[in-house]
Amino acid sequence: MRATLIIKNIDNLITLKGKDKPRIKEEMRDIGLIQNGVIALNEAEIIYVGKGELPENITIDDDTIIIDGKGKTVTPGLVDAHTHLVHGGSRENELSMKLKGMEYLDILAAGGGIHSTVKATREATFEQLYSKAKKSLDTMISYGTTTVEAKSGYGIGDFQTEIKQLEVARRLNEDHPVDIISTFMGAHAIPKDYNEDPDKFVDIIINEMIPEVSKRDLAKFCDVFCEKGVFTIEQSRKILLAALENGLIPKIHADEIESLGGAELAAEIGCITADHLIAASDEGIKMMAGKGIIANLLPGTSFNLQAGKFARARKMIEEGVAIALSTDYNPGSCPTENLQLVMSFASLIMKLTPEEVITAVTINGAAALGLEEKIGSLKVGKQGDIVIFDAPNLDYIIYHFGINHTDKVVKKGKVVFS
Ligand code: NIG
Ligand code: FE
Repeated sequence: MRATLIIKNIDNLITLKGKDKPRIKEEMRDIGLIQNGVIALNEAEIIYVGKGELPENITIDDDTIIIDGKGKTVTPGLVDAHTHLVHGGSRENELSMKLKGMEYLDILAAGGGIHSTVKATREATFEQLYSKAKKSLDTMISYGTTTVEAKSGYGIGDFQTEIKQLEVARRLNEDHPVDIISTFMGAHAIPKDYNEDPDKFVDIIINEMIPEVSKRDLAKFCDVFCEKGVFTIEQSRKILLAALENGLIPKIHADEIESLGGAELAAEIGCITADHLIAASDEGIKMMAGKGIIANLLPGTSFNLQAGKFARARKMIEEGVAIALSTDYNPGSCPTENLQLVMSFASLIMKLTPEEVITAVTINGAAALGLEEKIGSLKVGKQGDIVIFDAPNLDYIIYHFGINHTDKVVKKGKVVFS
């Protein structure tokens, strides 16, 4: 078979070969490392992964792109399975408030926080949102991210703005090399007009918004911010059940700040992931393990909220919960597109091993988006999404933190960043 692109002499080829399922416990440390590895693609598809030389049945010609992997570490394309990619404005004005000790939920309750991004997103045109999000995608791909989840949630009461965000994501998915998977998050904050009667807003989400998003095929997932002062457990349950009924896959911002029982609810409903989980209870973690719910952890948010607390990743792994790691890129609680920095936080602060970390941002990240059969590992038949890191080994990427180690990024068999 003809190869259109090959990477050879790879010092450390991290394949993540193994089952196309979320990995748990010691599976998270089995990264399928090949030293002196070689990988061949035919257009978007991986056709060979091995050690040493290519076998004779893989042919090359004058058009084959040949990349030398000497001194490099090669991994599957990184998956960022939790972002608020499309939004207007920025919130650096909150920095001085935070430094004075004002907390995230206080800023929100005072009408700032998410509400100020709602205003900026409503006022932005489609083109303005598109070009801001495109710039973020360019940054993400430069750090090795090849697949991204993008939530709505800055229209809230204004459904047209929610739709505008989802349409921007859809257009970018067509135009930009990064694949974008959309999530409807109308339940991101209670609009000010419904402060007196939040259940009325929940009814609108359930009866009007979710069916319309589903009918127009604008999102694969539905998310809710289940938190003290935002959506209660009962309201979140109703919304996520309505999502299920309408063919949207449920997921949840759970126990980010207060321990409300979000992890337990994720298990009860059968969410694909529960995200954040900084304050998740022992019982919630056990229930998630029992139901195979993926914990999508976002340590950049703990860092930026100055919460002094990180999700109990080691405990989750011990209990058998599969862990994914994402940026949570958004203008308030985590303004960074840099998934490599999140990988360093996960290891240096949450004590995950480099092997667990790379598993969390590849095959488990793919599983967090229901894409584990297509991406997340380097196996024959899978999509050719690959990162070439200018790093002698995996530990180096995590240890030498805060900089960009990407040398080249291959998406669907094409070099899209170098
Ligand atoms: O994941 N918690 C809710 N949503 C985001 C923050 C969004 C914002 O502050 O604009 C999060 O932390
Ligand atoms: Fe988030």
